[in-house]
Amino acid sequence: MTLLAFETSCDETSAAVIRDGVILSNVVSSQVALHAEYGGVVPELATREHLRNFLPVSREALKQALVTPEQLHAIAATQGPGLPAALLVGLKSAQAMAFALRKIFIGIHHHEAHLFSPWIVATEAGARLDIDAFEPNISLVVSGGHTLIVHVASELNHRVIGSTIDDAAGECFDKAGKLLGLPYPAGPEIDKLAVQGNPRAFDFPRPMIHDPNDDFSFAGLKTSVRYFLQKNPALLNDTSRLPDLCASVQAAIVEVLVAKTIRVAERLNVKCVTASGGVACNSSLRKELARACEKRGMRLRLVERKFSTDNAAMIGILAERKLLANQVSELDADIQPNWAL
Ligand code: KG4
Ligand code: ZN
Repeated sequence: MTLLAFETSCDETSAAVIRDGVILSNVVSSQVALHAEYGGVVPELATREHLRNFLPVSREALKQALVTPEQLHAIAATQGPGLPAALLVGLKSAQAMAFALRKIFIGIHHHEAHLFSPWIVATEAGARLDIDAFEPNISLVVSGGHTLIVHVASELNHRVIGSTIDDAAGECFDKAGKLLGLPYPAGPEIDKLAVQGNPRAFDFPRPMIHDPNDDFSFAGLKTSVRYFLQKNPALLNDTSRLPDLCASVQAAIVEVLVAKTIRVAERLNVKCVTASGGVACNSSLRKELARACEKRGMRLRLVERKFSTDNAAMIGILAERKLLANQVSELDADIQPNWAL
């Protein structure tokens, strides 16, 4: 089975070719530098860039995979959630392609693709889906837009257990980083600076860590960073304290993510934990999840960094599994900007 897949839900235009679980190509055109100037993603600019990049990225993905459009069995695209106009560009272009080439079309839920991404493994030649390793898991999906704990009972069967009631974890990294004077997106910058910092230097709140529910809230943490800096303005002018500030903010976010994910796994007696999404790149989160899982004899499956941020390979990998399960979409299926998982 050969599929061409697209991802355009936010600020990455990506196309990938998948054949029998193997990623033949995964081309990602990132707009991060363009949006950095505005301190966040500007939807109109994102849409314009998707329009500009869609065809070149598609051609490049086919070229790298040495696949012609006629050889495809299906075309897939992210259907939601995401920025409406950005989704429209990818979904409608993919459907037009499928119509013209008389191929099957498959619309994919962006977060379901993230959920699946930890099962992609690097190989000497590139990467492939390691479906034989799949086992039921508790999955932490952490990105700039969402923070979810999901019980994945079987390959295509999942249930959301907890989510954020306000800001996402990535948003908290980005907003706290902005207050610290770091460029957008601040998550990777905080990660880098925190390596040299002391995570116990400053005590920021761990929101909802002891609440009996499985939800998150990160807006209060961002606000506490703001008030703390207002009270201690000298800290901002002292660059030597930046690593400590970054490490302390990061520790507050990571501690909550790890504690709540592990608690759900223990309660539901699930022996495998997975993590995906842009924030799953974070070195402290990776280390602390590994430590917590090892202590409890749980297996941990972290998404490879390359597939943690938005990419079409994860869309295509999931689309192929859906195709094998006969879960295909209508050619005129509409975008679902607020699609709940
Ligand atoms: O999954 P993603 O590429 O896009 C969304 O679907 O949102 O995630 C982007 C988010 C941004 O908030 C970014 O700051 C964060 O992931 N991120 C990180 C790291 N790398 C990316 N956050 C913390 N540490 C990192 N190393
Ligand atoms: Zn994402």
